[in-house]
Amino acid sequence: MTVVPLSPEHGDALVAFARDLPEGDRTFIKEDLGDPATVRGWATEPSGGWRWVAVADDGAVRGYVAVLPLTGWSDHVGEVRLVVAPAARGTGLGRDLARHALVQAVGAGLRKLVVEVVPDQGPALALFTGLGFTGEALLRDQIRGRDGELRDLMVLAHHVGDTWSRMTAVGVADALDRPTG
Ligand SMILES: CC(C)(COP(=O)(O)OP(=O)(O)OC[C@H]1O[C@@H](n2cnc3c(N)ncnc32)[C@H](O)[C@@H]1OP(=O)(O)O)[C@@H](O)C(=O)NCCC(=O)NCCS
Repeated sequence: MTVVPLSPEHGDALVAFARDLPEGDRTFIKEDLGDPATVRGWATEPSGGWRWVAVADDGAVRGYVAVLPLTGWSDHVGEVRLVVAPAARGTGLGRDLARHALVQAVGAGLRKLVVEVVPDQGPALALFTGLGFTGEALLRDQIRGRDGELRDLMVLAHHVGDTWSRMTAVGVADALDRPTG
């Protein structure tokens, strides 16, 4: 599995990846993965932010991560979005993608990263807290799932300066010294 910047050649594979995600997953994903034109647009008409995909040997996309910088007085903050194909979960790919995004974002000068997680998403919480993210806010009834139910949303944050020493424990500081895509 290779993690590479998203580019136009990944358009079809990214659309297939999004199409094959189970409906239940979409409740937990902020990105609008239901609209093929939007998904293809990330590959063919990149706008602000950075996006990467994990690509298998056969060219299939198995994971996607993005860091989308906020604007104006929060332009030092980036929001992370992360999804792994169900068949590829539990193998460390999510952590690899999140770590890759973190390294790139810190290298690009962002001072803070945030990620929005539904509290009952145990794997996502474990993954991001393991990378030095901590809970910063709980927004009650903030999202409405496709089933119509209201759910809370947690905002986890990684303060680059404050948590740098903890990052060494997960290898992120080492990774900064290595060239990445
Ligand atoms: C969250 C998500 C990206 C994790 O991807 P993944 O490839 O399975 O993650 P990893 O294999 O790297 O696991 C990382 C850690 O998550 C935890 N984890 C993974 N699968 C788990 C499971 N089924 N149950 C509990 N914890 C789990 C573990 O702590 C694991 O660390 P460990 O391997 O040392 O035990 C994936 O579940 C997903 O795409 N979910 C839907 C989208 C989403 O919620 N995104 C996050 C908000 S943007």
